Amino acid sequence: MTQPSLLDPPGTDSPSDDPTHLESVSGSRPETHDWWREAVTYQIYPRSFADSDGDGLGDLPGITARLPYLRDLGVDAIWMSPFYCSPMADAGYDVADYRDVDPLFGSIADADALIESAADLGIKVLLDLVPNHSSDEHVWFRQALAAEPGSLERARYHFRDGRGEHGELPPNNWKSVFGGVAWTRVTEADGTPGQWYLHLFDPKQPDFDWDNPDVHADFVRTIAFWVDRGVYGFRVDVAHGLVKAAGLPDWDVDLELLQSWRDGDQDGDQPRAPMWDQDGVHEIYREWRRVLDAYGKPARILCAEAWVEPVERAVRYIRSDEMHQTFNFDFLECAWQATKLNHVIEHSLAVSASVGAPTTWVLSNHDVVRQTSRLGLPQDRPRPHGIGAGDPQPDRALGLRRARAATTLMLALPGAAYLYQGEELGLPDSTDLPDSYRQDPAFARTGGKSAGRDGCRVPMPWAKDAPSFGFGPSGQSWLPQPEVYGDYAADQQEGRPGSTLELYRSLLQTRHQLALGRGRFSPLEAYAGQPDVVAWRSKGAERDDVAVVVNLGPAPVRLPPGAQVLVASEALCDDSSLPTDTAVWLTL
Ligand code: GLC
Repeated sequence: MTQPSLLDPPGTDSPSDDPTHLESVSGSRPETHDWWREAVTYQIYPRSFADSDGDGLGDLPGITARLPYLRDLGVDAIWMSPFYCSPMADAGYDVADYRDVDPLFGSIADADALIESAADLGIKVLLDLVPNHSSDEHVWFRQALAAEPGSLERARYHFRDGRGEHGELPPNNWKSVFGGVAWTRVTEADGTPGQWYLHLFDPKQPDFDWDNPDVHADFVRTIAFWVDRGVYGFRVDVAHGLVKAAGLPDWDVDLELLQSWRDGDQDGDQPRAPMWDQDGVHEIYREWRRVLDAYGKPARILCAEAWVEPVERAVRYIRSDEMHQTFNFDFLECAWQATKLNHVIEHSLAVSASVGAPTTWVLSNHDVVRQTSRLGLPQDRPRPHGIGAGDPQPDRALGLRRARAATTLMLALPGAAYLYQGEELGLPDSTDLPDSYRQDPAFARTGGKSAGRDGCRVPMPWAKDAPSFGFGPSGQSWLPQPEVYGDYAADQQEGRPGSTLELYRSLLQTRHQLALGRGRFSPLEAYAGQPDVVAWRSKGAERDDVAVVVNLGPAPVRLPPGAQVLVASEALCDDSSLPTDTAVWLTL
């Protein structure tokens, strides 16, 4: 049943020609290999992972203590959301000092210890670089406020005079992603109302002006600071936002919330939003790539958070002299519908291959409703920005079943993949969080119209019968954990056949053994024309007879005769049929 390979990424040697192709079935990799092309990276949201000191907020020593769990899970790398000094107006994505650790999370010594422990366990550490904006408590912004209009200090940000007779109107009509106006007026040193500054997000997150050479120099310094301490690269926050169109022209579309970042070019013929995906942004990544390449092998990498459409524009961020990875948000946003999924997979692979890059799959992160909850909602409407108690509630069992199948599909696909903490436990969002606990600025700035992102940020359950389900020693947790989280705790799943944790472990172990992230991929002909089936044949480096089959329809689907099951997201109906919302890896 050998199929011709549909998608052979240019510039990738066939596995047998690859002199670095020495991987053993135990999963160890020679360091000369381009590890990032197939790495599985686990996102840690530090405030919610593990709390070592009992203050209710996760911290770096907590993470370090849990690293063996991640080694056992089988991930290659971790990406940590920001732990830098910050007033925490946007959970740390408002950075006051890029080269220090916020005392809430620990110290530089704790960061060093974490990086070293991870290295000992064979786990690479990626950090989160936040270059679009700083905190308003960053020393540069304080200096800018104290300085005159037109000064060098103000030139590092976007300060402008207001419109209207007395400058009382914002300089343009841009709205903040979190709701409200994207400008805030300052009071000048003499007490008079003064200029305005731009913030695409919260007022406490002023946007840098990337035309300014100081900004370039300082980010290069930050990159070197952390790479010299042993990190393997960065996920780059809002990577498509750094450069704004000259003159900051008006734009009549709301920026509101993350999803509408993508609305600017849905069908390819609308004008490009003046604050997103400007061509000039690529020069910044070329500069950073040169800095990182100078460190040699193994590669230090960049992964773009770029909510850019269409995918032909998104892959411009991963041309060979720019970043290494960019999240495939088309996959994350795809409805649970076989023809749509097949299209996204085929198109993503082809377009990534056109620039010689892998595609980087992802299903969840700290900004979106978790896949278990998302897939438990009706699939004929856009994904929600958070789920509140008054919103339609997901079907938890259905969502979990589909999420397990979705991950089983994702981890078979060639390319890199990111997991978000807790998805290996099948955690749902907290969907009945009382509003008084909500901390996401999007909730307040939209007047509650958006529930915001707190529901996917609730602290991890480690042990069912411990205070705060083992999150920390005191029983405190910065967001309340739903009662049901106890049933999802890691200790309830460890070693239990069929648990979501054990499913993830099997998937990752098998993926490594078969080198599934590498290599080529083609549709599995046996299922051609079946509208409810996603079926691909993965040509791994170790073998070329592995397939993934997902049944999204109501009726069971027969497996190819003679196929052997490697991993299944649910028990099969019998030895040869795949039930609804189930995915399986096979050898053919
Ligand atoms: C990115 C982060 C998000 C943050 C925003 C502003 O989208 O992932 O959490 O709120 O940027 O920094």
